[in-house]
Amino acid sequence: MEIYNSALKRYHKDISVDLINQFSIKNCIAFCHDINKGMHEHFESCDIIYSEPFWKNGHDTLYKKNMIKYSFSELQERINYEINVFQKPTILVVGKNALKHYSNYSIIGTVILHNYPSQVIAWNCDLNIPVKNKRGFMFNNYDLMDLIVEKYSCIGDFMCGFGNLPLKAFNKNKSFVASDIDTKCISVLNNRIKNK
Ligand SMILES: C[S@@+](CC[C@H](N)C(=O)[O-])C[C@H]1O[C@@H](n2cnc3c(N)ncnc32)[C@H](O)[C@@H]1O
Repeated sequence: MEIYNSALKRYHKDISVDLINQFSIKNCIAFCHDINKGMHEHFESCDIIYSEPFWKNGHDTLYKKNMIKYSFSELQERINYEINVFQKPTILVVGKNALKHYSNYSIIGTVILHNYPSQVIAWNCDLNIPVKNKRGFMFNNYDLMDLIVEKYSCIGDFMCGFGNLPLKAFNKNKSFVASDIDTKCISVLNNRIKNK
């Protein structure tokens, strides 16, 4: 069962957990890291990187509460810079209004994320994304995570939230490198793995 880390009130899940900054298990590692400080060297071992950055509304919710200091554009442009310098196969799921902040990508499909059609943009990667999933519904972000886990062996997510992608990778005996700026996310992922 997926639990998604959303800043939006209607999707927000308040989870109480003991806080840890990092953990490793088997060939997997999760740690706190701010992508604004650069792509962490741990991501070198990944054969694909996939992330779902906050959408503008989610970002603005935390910005207004003073929980994050950088503007939406600043963050997107930094992510774009890091991806273009890092040169790994990378996939992001973003809203249409974020596209202007990215460069040198291809749009490889559309998936549904929280009921919204979202753009799947990619660098150095030509994954074929079906329009519908096996149940006949529109392909969603979790279907896309399953596809990625099936195809790749070591999967990175630098904005892992509550860790749906790393958890899926772990469940299929794949490796992951996961990071998030928020300690709580790393702690929730740790608990989800321990309580499987
Ligand atoms: C939409 S959520 C990702 C949800 C995730 N895919 C999941 O399965 O729960 C975006 C995440 O980006 C993280 N984030 C925001 N700014 C960040 C930064 N500068 N560096 C790293 N992570 C950041 C947030 O803490 C949040 O967990």
